[in-house]
Amino acid sequence: MKPVIFNNTVLRDGHQSLAATRMTTEQMLAAAPELDKMGFGALETWGGATIDSCLRFLGENPFDRLRTLKKLAPKTPHMMLLRGQNIVQYTSFPDDVVEAFVACAAAAGVDIFRVFDALNDLRNVQTAVRAVKKAGKHAQGAISYTTSPVHTPAAFLEMAKEFERLGCDSICIKDMAGLICPPVASALVKQIKASVKIPVVLHSHNTAGLAGTSYFEAIEAGVDMVDVSIAPFANGTGQPDALMMHAMLEGTPRCPAYDADRHVQLVEHFRKVYEQLAEFTSRNNERTDVDILRFQVPGGMLSNFRNQLKEQGMSDKWDQVVAEIPFVREKLGWIPLVTPTSQIVGTQAMLNVKFGRWKNIAQPTADILLGKYGRTPGPIDPELRALAEERTKQKAVDCRPADLLEPRMPGLREELKAKGLPVNDENAVLYAMFPQQLEAFHKPKAAAPAPAPAKPAPAPPAPAEPTAGRHYRIIIDGRLHDATVQTL
Ligand code: CO
Repeated sequence: MKPVIFNNTVLRDGHQSLAATRMTTEQMLAAAPELDKMGFGALETWGGATIDSCLRFLGENPFDRLRTLKKLAPKTPHMMLLRGQNIVQYTSFPDDVVEAFVACAAAAGVDIFRVFDALNDLRNVQTAVRAVKKAGKHAQGAISYTTSPVHTPAAFLEMAKEFERLGCDSICIKDMAGLICPPVASALVKQIKASVKIPVVLHSHNTAGLAGTSYFEAIEAGVDMVDVSIAPFANGTGQPDALMMHAMLEGTPRCPAYDADRHVQLVEHFRKVYEQLAEFTSRNNERTDVDILRFQVPGGMLSNFRNQLKEQGMSDKWDQVVAEIPFVREKLGWIPLVTPTSQIVGTQAMLNVKFGRWKNIAQPTADILLGKYGRTPGPIDPELRALAEERTKQKAVDCRPADLLEPRMPGLREELKAKGLPVNDENAVLYAMFPQQLEAFHKPKAAAPAPAPAKPAPAPPAPAEPTAGRHYRIIIDGRLHDATVQTL
């Protein structure tokens, strides 16, 4: 049996899970060359919420970060997390934008693209996977793992086979909420390994204290790689620490060689960084959270959800709202709870408790009901879909959502030109996703003081037209954002 391969997530998921994605490139510089010497299968350095965070909070060009890290760590493949047709945002983008984004990311240094869809609708990953292969890079198809009556081992196995058919080079079981338990991890890995030829990775979070043991069982069952991090950007809501995982495997045939001395030096470095980021870290994220096992919702979502309810003056309604989450999820076709669907389900559960069931339907909920995010894993409640059609005066669709979108790249280049911003594909794809943030980034520094990471983000400008929306704080990637949610 070959030793298991460790992938390292400290420069992406590690700080996204434990420090609100606020680690700066500066704070990564000393660590990157050391990480490059440790024989990791991949360094996850980009994607997820890092691109948003670079522009919104850190005043950094995300592509420059990638090029810098690639230069400092040239030996180990760099990996990014890509939300399929959503790229790194919360809605669908046209194919030409997805293709341009992948081409830019590949040129700037991404070697492995881990591609997933929040609904597990694989029509939403096809374009991205094709673009990755066209760029000559490694496409990893990621299954969004969750538990529900429709998320059977057979359904996950079908997805794995479909990823292989799409031309993926490997498969990831992406357990974003840390729900997978050891026997399930073992059985799922065995089944997938028996049915596909490509390597299999397990990605989990130690939110409920299960990840290390589930990794161990998955490794015994033959998984090829697991994702680990480095303390203190490890454990808790993050990935298990690499040295801890190594210790757990010592003496077994699958234990990889691992440089413990260098790991300890890196822990020293990251401890300092963790202290520098103190205002973005939380004891709640470091602890094991069993609520996740009771309510089957991601731990990061639960802790932020408490704040959200408080702001709405609904703290006393906690039990009711939490109980409403599985109800909403079932009516919405048992969608997995991962960005952006976790926010959608949570907000709708809150609205249902506050105003009565379906008295107010948030716009994103209606979009799920109308098929605009894609096909849900289970059937959508037909009465609720009819209600959404009636209130929005729109018909539900069953096609791939991006089929309804016109190409945007030529228009985006025109807009950049009109705004006096540098016209290139990198700016065009960033502008498609984060127009205000990109404009602010390119403003002359004298006119716009560099965003201070210590302060909360400025509220987005009021929409030009008055809307009937309600003001809510919504959770995006574990952080609270002010947002006006249009209710119907
Ligand atoms: Co993760």
